[in-house]
Amino acid sequence: MPEDVPARLPARFSRRTLFAMAGGGALAAALAACAPGGSTTPTPTASASWMPPAKPMAFPQGFVWGAATSAYQVEGSVTADGRLPSVWDTFAARAGAIRDGSTGDPAADQYVRYAQDVDLMAGLGLGAYRFSLAWPRIQPTGSGPANAAGLDHYRRVVDALVERGIRPAITLFHWDLPQALQDAGGWAKRETALRFADYAELCFDALGDVEADWMTLNEPKTHAFVGHWYGAHAPGLRSPDVAAAAVHHQLLAHGLAVERFRESGAAGRIGIPLNLVSAYPLDAGRADGLARLDARENRLFLDPVLKGTYPDEAIGSLPGQLPARPAAWMTVQEDGDLETISAPIDFLAVQYYGVTGVDASGNETSIAPTSAATWQQIKAEGLYDLLMRIVRDYPAIPLLITENGIPDPTPDLTVDDPERIEFLRTHFQQAARSIADGAPLEAYYVWSLLDNFEWAEGYQQRWGIVAVDFQTQERTPKRSAEWYSGVIAANAVSAS
Ligand code: FCB
Repeated sequence: MPEDVPARLPARFSRRTLFAMAGGGALAAALAACAPGGSTTPTPTASASWMPPAKPMAFPQGFVWGAATSAYQVEGSVTADGRLPSVWDTFAARAGAIRDGSTGDPAADQYVRYAQDVDLMAGLGLGAYRFSLAWPRIQPTGSGPANAAGLDHYRRVVDALVERGIRPAITLFHWDLPQALQDAGGWAKRETALRFADYAELCFDALGDVEADWMTLNEPKTHAFVGHWYGAHAPGLRSPDVAAAAVHHQLLAHGLAVERFRESGAAGRIGIPLNLVSAYPLDAGRADGLARLDARENRLFLDPVLKGTYPDEAIGSLPGQLPARPAAWMTVQEDGDLETISAPIDFLAVQYYGVTGVDASGNETSIAPTSAATWQQIKAEGLYDLLMRIVRDYPAIPLLITENGIPDPTPDLTVDDPERIEFLRTHFQQAARSIADGAPLEAYYVWSLLDNFEWAEGYQQRWGIVAVDFQTQERTPKRSAEWYSGVIAANAVSAS
């Protein structure tokens, strides 16, 4: 961890911060302490007492089971076919930025091995594959005409998927901004949102004939906070003001891309993948702290996209807030932006990794066991609470879970991953439970298809259901992949 990391950072994002594990009692107390909330405060449910039924829980017919990756994490071939550096190439090359000194080259070599991977997916029975397009392959400097070789590659990937009956779920941006755009100011600048809209249009024109689920910008929160406030991800900046600008400009980019999507007449649907968290107060009497944290972690993204407003409590100098200067935050906003940002979308893509507690002062705290990714507090019921909260507080919209998973407990290459099976089983049960209670959940993508380059953790965290030997690039499905295959075949998850 960089030494000058500020003491108070959001747990979800301090990816190397070690939290003490809290016992189940703390969680039960937290849940018991929850007061019923209004529309601005998350309301935990009686989740803690829920037991899965003895019989398998069936999913609706047509439910989509998939797996996800992103370009920089799996592709490698960073100089092939005219690709130029992204912020991640630059950041990973910095001494000390990546835990094991690695970069996204060769990652899982998917740029070369995509056909083999599509066969692998078909073998597992996946109905959909979520992957991202690398902007620096398609527009190597972030603007101007398309690089045909870059687009041709993705055409081949999409065709291979469609041939095997696998629905493409295409993310336009998963954090790999062309370095040339960063040199011009990156997400601190409004211009980057305009460039993104042009890039998106090139992609819709090239691939829009395919029936796909398009996603605009992956987790704008993580990219803004970890990359621009915390400095642990590319571009490695540490400015809350710039982080706030990055929030707004990414959301604006999203809205502009949705407009271009409609104008392009592309087939399929479009939405945005937001990483959201269920937060629980340790002290019911101090719900204002919870409201601030919830505003920063969830409503700062959900409200503008689904309601066309920003919450008041997300930005400020109190615990749980993004400590940008309010004046800086106001400066980046222009009339009409929120209207653009709230352009109607076809689905909301939810990325769920866990829960957080909020202490009496409003700071995040540990309430559940973590995985090897110490920012991840595991609580499957939090998924149910999150989905039901979205149903309760926002206009009706189809929901897709586009990321959920855990890393192996150690960096060692293994195919035996009982923890992952247990994790997925309990989370699938909560998904089925939410559907039974009215959540319009249509799809579930496991993160990740393959072991890959896990950002600042390098190759030290293996999130795949398929093991990758990074020396030989050999792929071997883990036990969890076999188990997942069974779930897909049955379209149901069993109690144990
Ligand atoms: C998510 C990212 C994804 C991966 C998982 C573990 O926040 O979108 O790329 O790093 O976490």
